[in-house]
Amino acid sequence: MAAYRFLLLIVALLWLPLHAGGSSSGNSSSVMFAGYEWAVRENATPQGPGPNIFSRDNVRVDAQGRLLLSLRKVNATTQAASAAVVPETKASSQPAHNYTCAEVSLTRPLGYGTYSFEVAKDVHALGQGDPFIVLGMFLYKDDTHEIDIEVAQWGNPDPSAANGDFVVQPPTADTARYWRLSATRHAVFRFTYAASHVAFLVQDADTGAMLTQWNCTASSKIPSKHSDMLVHINLWLFRGTTLKLTQDVVTVPFSNFTFSPL
Ligand SMILES: *[C@@H]1O[C@H](CO)[C@@H](O)[C@H](O)[C@H]1NC(C)=O
Ligand SMILES: *[C@@H]1O[C@H](CO)[C@@H](O)[C@H](O)[C@H]1NC(C)=O
Ligand SMILES: *[C@@H]1O[C@H](CO)[C@@H](O)[C@H](O)[C@H]1NC(C)=O
Ligand SMILES: *[C@@H]1O[C@H](CO)[C@@H](O)[C@H](O)[C@H]1NC(C)=O
Ligand SMILES: *[C@@H]1O[C@H](CO)[C@@H](O)[C@H](O)[C@H]1NC(C)=O
Repeated sequence: MAAYRFLLLIVALLWLPLHAGGSSSGNSSSVMFAGYEWAVRENATPQGPGPNIFSRDNVRVDAQGRLLLSLRKVNATTQAASAAVVPETKASSQPAHNYTCAEVSLTRPLGYGTYSFEVAKDVHALGQGDPFIVLGMFLYKDDTHEIDIEVAQWGNPDPSAANGDFVVQPPTADTARYWRLSATRHAVFRFTYAASHVAFLVQDADTGAMLTQWNCTASSKIPSKHSDMLVHINLWLFRGTTLKLTQDVVTVPFSNFTFSPL
């Protein structure tokens, strides 16, 4: 009996720090960030993209109101949080997923307008940490109604490879652009979604310097606004795998998200 109570206490102690900062609305599957309520993805078995296991333990909002998305090593000894995902990984018939991923989305559509994501970390070398890491800021209904900004090297370890893209899915010559971002402490990733075009850019948030921009004007290929075109932010692993990642946790902090309608 005493052992049982002790176990309960341990479980409670592990549970509290994990779930304390997460929810601000009494709903543990959502977080408040930048004035919006974001649904937090959780799937115990691997699902696309990747496929990967997405865990709500990898989504936090810190004391400064920043949204923190993490990749977290399963079984990492320094993070009690990872203990929670071990049984799920074991239960899966898929190959061992060594990291869990993070994703949030809004549950109501914002429609045509300008979507801005402020990243408070230099992400240009995410792919040097591991070329399978993907940071996504996007609108999604399904795989053919999707507008993406991705910081990603898609498995290519070459340090001079493209490390990002703008895509109106599916990618073709007139709907995709690949670019290489250099070191930037604090960047704004932005797209203006209109019926006839999607104007993308990346700017240095501190100096306002334009780092890369492209206007996709293939109007027949731009998905119409739809009640299911929802904004998502995620941090995941291409093919659900890594090449050389050894860190227990990789975190990308977002300092803001803003939307202004057209
Ligand atoms: C929690 O929030 C999510 C996203 O806003 C919503 O889909 C879900 O229904 C909510 N759950 C409860 C129990 O309120
Ligand atoms: C995590 O640890 C358990 C127990 O040691 C082991 O069975 C499992 O394969 C490990 N999972 C991964 C992904 O390494
Ligand atoms: C993008 O192209 C459209 C259509 O030509 C134009 O109306 C819009 O002003 C352009 N936006 C930018 C930022 O260049
Ligand atoms: C997980 O790590 C093990 C040991 O390094 C490796 O053999 C396996 O391929 C990895 N699994 C994935 C999905 O990357
Ligand atoms: C986010 O951006 C909005 C609009 O520009 C601004 O009012 C707000 O202060 C910003 N929040 C933070 C934390 O920078």
